[in-house]
Amino acid sequence: MIRYRPFRNSDPLALVGLWNQSVPDRGAVRPLRVHELDRHAFGTVCFDRAGLIVAERDGRILGYVHAGFGPDLPVESSAPFSFDPSLGTIAMLVVDHDVADPELARRLILEAERYLRSRGASVLYAGGQFPLNPFYWGLYGGSEGSGVLSGHSGFFQTLTAMGYEPVSTTVFLEFDLASPEPRDARTVLTRRQTRLVIEEDALPIHWWENQSLSEFHLTRFRLLARSDGTELARATTWDMTWFGRGDGRTRIGLSGVEVSSSHRRKGYGRYLVSEVIRWARERAWALVEVQTLATNQPALALYQTLGFVPIDQSTVYRLPAGLLDRFASA
Ligand SMILES: CC(C)(COP(=O)(O)OP(=O)(O)OC[C@H]1O[C@@H](n2cnc3c(N)ncnc32)[C@H](O)[C@@H]1OP(=O)(O)O)[C@@H](O)C(=O)NCCC(=O)NCCS
Repeated sequence: MIRYRPFRNSDPLALVGLWNQSVPDRGAVRPLRVHELDRHAFGTVCFDRAGLIVAERDGRILGYVHAGFGPDLPVESSAPFSFDPSLGTIAMLVVDHDVADPELARRLILEAERYLRSRGASVLYAGGQFPLNPFYWGLYGGSEGSGVLSGHSGFFQTLTAMGYEPVSTTVFLEFDLASPEPRDARTVLTRRQTRLVIEEDALPIHWWENQSLSEFHLTRFRLLARSDGTELARATTWDMTWFGRGDGRTRIGLSGVEVSSSHRRKGYGRYLVSEVIRWARERAWALVEVQTLATNQPALALYQTLGFVPIDQSTVYRLPAGLLDRFASA
């Protein structure tokens, strides 16, 4: 008989084994080491052992599900460690390939729903997406830790079979630094008008980012107007080398690309990302990865005109309100 119980300190070795067997190569870190899972899943300030539910039979762990919450918004470093219990997410589902029991994954999802509801969640999601990405950012879901990966069939097939509905899709794009440098006739003028400030080993922007990305050497790029120092655009990169364990290629993740709203469509976004590409090439990185919502046409167009290629996607799901308390009768 299968028993469903909360996480114990003796579980990580078995959980890493399941991860390395079941999580897709693309968009996730594989193989993963025990201390890395420990740091990014069980070592975060929002970890609650009751939210990581393990399925066990005769002392053998067959799968696990991990659910949690996002921070109170806006994320303020002056008020750290406060969470919003109204929105919950099922961040991970991993099940042993060798167990031919479709009921196992279903029961794990129901246990996660029970946990989230017991802590006060009134909307249940599956898949992380900032700010609802309490665990695994840095290990899963590419540069911004989002959604259920398209290659993670055991997870998304269970969700859709159980009535979860897709609510947003994120497109993952990649720039191969062996390809030619992007060119733009406006570059010379933009360079004259602006000043690029590159801050290596930058601090995370808030405690939420800090708990996931602090060990990945953040670099912040800020484009300032030469005339008065106004910030026109900004972006951050982090070292995603762990994601290259499958293909042996080094990579940086680009996140938080933003042009100040009054300065859009003037070429600053393209200039800033081109400068990030140049900086990465000089440091002999192999790839730059970025992601954006499939509905964000300006960002998609920006990346594609620069030569980024779509390589994958992930999806965030939501449970229809009518199914919120079904675990009670399961
Ligand atoms: C996406 C964003 C960074 C683009 O910055 P920008 O400085 O306005 O873009 P640029 O002027 O450099 O435009 C470069 C190319 O991007 C595309 N583009 C930019 N804005 C666009 C828009 N509103 N609609 C369609 N294409 C657009 C075009 O292909 C453009 O080339 P073109 O001017 O030759 O047509 C900016 O709109 C932004 O900050 N958005 C909010 C934050 C965001 O969504 N960030 C991306 C998260 S991954």
